[in-house]
Amino acid sequence: MAFKERVFSGVQPTGNLHLGNYLGAITKFVALQESHECIYCVVDMHAITVWQDPAELTRNTREVTAAFLASGIDPKKQIIFNQSQVAEHAELAWVFNCVARLGWLNRMTQFKEKAGKDRENASVGLYAYPNLMAADILVYRATHVPVGEDQKQHLELARDIAQKFNNDFSESIKAHGFGDAFFPQPEPLIQGPATRVMSLRDGTKKMSKSDASDNSRINLTDDADAIAQKIRKAKTDPHPLPNDVKELDQRPEADNLVGIYAALKETTKAEVLLEFGGAQFSTFKNALVDLAVAKLGPIGAEMKKLVGDPAYIDSILADGSVRAKAIASETMSAVKDIVGFVRR
Ligand code: TYM
Repeated sequence: MAFKERVFSGVQPTGNLHLGNYLGAITKFVALQESHECIYCVVDMHAITVWQDPAELTRNTREVTAAFLASGIDPKKQIIFNQSQVAEHAELAWVFNCVARLGWLNRMTQFKEKAGKDRENASVGLYAYPNLMAADILVYRATHVPVGEDQKQHLELARDIAQKFNNDFSESIKAHGFGDAFFPQPEPLIQGPATRVMSLRDGTKKMSKSDASDNSRINLTDDADAIAQKIRKAKTDPHPLPNDVKELDQRPEADNLVGIYAALKETTKAEVLLEFGGAQFSTFKNALVDLAVAKLGPIGAEMKKLVGDPAYIDSILADGSVRAKAIASETMSAVKDIVGFVRR
């Protein structure tokens, strides 16, 4: 069955939105709105799988929304909302808790990383997190999901859940007039030179919101001075930049900075090396500072302005939630019929 193309993605409001989130996800969100119907979600219910201070959660939810808007997502043409305002996410997640297998979740590397050594003390929500993520996507029967490389395994799980639901309920799906498959197989969109932006302090570690060192990442709210300082301090190796992209494989810090430059300039690593191959890092870093400040400076400034008007942000989220709910409730009614729940 052919499904209508629809894009869905989400970002957690857990603070310190950074260059990795921007290049790995948000720039893709912006580009896709030209060609697709898009739904972008601030996933506050995912955030509470680890402890969140309530006031901070509210602030961070508004900040991620501001980042979406400041980056150029059009809230009238597309849908921007926060997850907890559309209860159908949680409702479908429960059904998926009963479709997904323990063995599937036990393979999730992100749970292992986040739970760390003290697994017994991790929340049940953290363990079931990928089922909620599958519900986020499939409650809109979304077909395309732009994400960074770190979400690939979760997307594979969402595909497995969609397939098992379609198989387990195939008779009922047919009987209710939905053809051979009710859910699409959502496709991850993981493309370009910055699908995995690394820490500026260690090219083998992912840039992350939770890294103790603020110098490891460029936050979207950093001002020009902070951006310049962090790039100038970024770890490098002693050699000039190579001419050949293949040589970046052995040089994680160089690879990362070249990838960041390429993504900000909307070009390829090979093009960047055509310009900077043989150059010293000091020269390249100056160019990177100029580019990063030119691209990120206006976004940070606009974000600061927007978060100063929480009533406006909340009105965007309220409007988006109503429109998201209209789609999600239709899916949920169908799911209830397919599963056999009696409903009004
Ligand atoms: P989150 O909030 O950790 O990250 C948001 C997006 O940013 C990408 N990202 C990166 N990309 C490149 N380099 C990095 N260093 C980097 N760090 C983060 C992430 O891949 C993601 O695309 N589970 C998701 C949120 C989520 C979701 C969904 C996504 C919930 N439901 C449904 C898609 C569809 C997460 O924790 O993203």
